[in-house]
Amino acid sequence: MNYFDDKVAIVTGSSLGIGKAIAIKLLELNCKVVITARNKQRLAKTYAEIKKDGDQLLMQAGDVSKLEDCKNLIEKTIEHFGRLDILINNAGLSMEGEVVDLKPDVFKNIMDVNYLGSVYPSQLAIPHLKSTEGSILFISSLAAIRGLPGFAPYASSKMALTALSESLAIELKPFNIHVGIAYLGFTKNDPEKTIFNKDGELIPQPTRNGFKQKDVSKVATQILLMIKQRKFKSYFNLMGLSINFLNRIFPRAYHFTLSRLYKKYQSE
Ligand SMILES: NC(=O)c1ccc[n+]([C@@H]2O[C@H](COP(=O)([O-])OP(=O)(O)OC[C@H]3O[C@@H](n4cnc5c(N)ncnc54)[C@H](OP(=O)(O)O)[C@@H]3O)[C@@H](O)[C@H]2O)c1
Repeated sequence: MNYFDDKVAIVTGSSLGIGKAIAIKLLELNCKVVITARNKQRLAKTYAEIKKDGDQLLMQAGDVSKLEDCKNLIEKTIEHFGRLDILINNAGLSMEGEVVDLKPDVFKNIMDVNYLGSVYPSQLAIPHLKSTEGSILFISSLAAIRGLPGFAPYASSKMALTALSESLAIELKPFNIHVGIAYLGFTKNDPEKTIFNKDGELIPQPTRNGFKQKDVSKVATQILLMIKQRKFKSYFNLMGLSINFLNRIFPRAYHFTLSRLYKKYQSE
């Protein structure tokens, strides 16, 4: 019997990319999985693609930034599987553009999905996780270590998750609920991935040349290991560990490095 055998997990934002890869890995480990995202058609396509024999997979479309949809998600999970062991707050959106150029809606939309879209499912899951002594995992980014030029709303939303997870880890300790936060680095993107441009329109994610990108399936394996080991923080690769170290010990040097890199990027 493995750690995930017969457990019940919700993975938000699981019709694409990292969330889908996590759902696939969990199903392979005999976990019961609930997948969710806004676009019903794409979610149904993912459901049909990853479903195995037996009653192991449930899909529930919804928007994590809407409290009512999150209530439905948790209720349907309990109604169908009778329990909840793991919540992975993965749904997230990215953007590009400097603060001065961004439409204010970009800030709001990013905070709604990346921050409140993790708060709502977590709040609603806690009563159920108390009885299973389960896990809540937040998917964050290296952008949460220090604010990045050109990504201020994204970095702010992911930094907010750091505060949320730190508070929750202490609040939920008496109930033996594990809280974790994963600071992911560049990961190979799904071709369907979109981000907000400065005007708040969704555009295909631009290609990231010159950066080493990890395979989604390897990232998913690391995320599951974190849950199994009930680890609080994880930086996933050498780049993450180095950035975290540099920012803590030599913050001015990291600030200077970022400024230089940004200048170089702008001139290309
Ligand atoms: N890819 C990277 O390099 C990288 C690096 C660091 C951190 N991360 C983080 O990892 C997570 C997953 O990233 P990804 O690259 O796999 O993203 P992705 O390919 O864009 O997939 C995002 C998923 O979230 C869903 N989603 C978006 N907004 C939602 C909402 N409001 N409610 C419910 N579902 C929603 C999308 O489906 P719908 O659009 O149909 O809702 C989709 O299933 C994000 O939190 C991201 O910030 C990614």
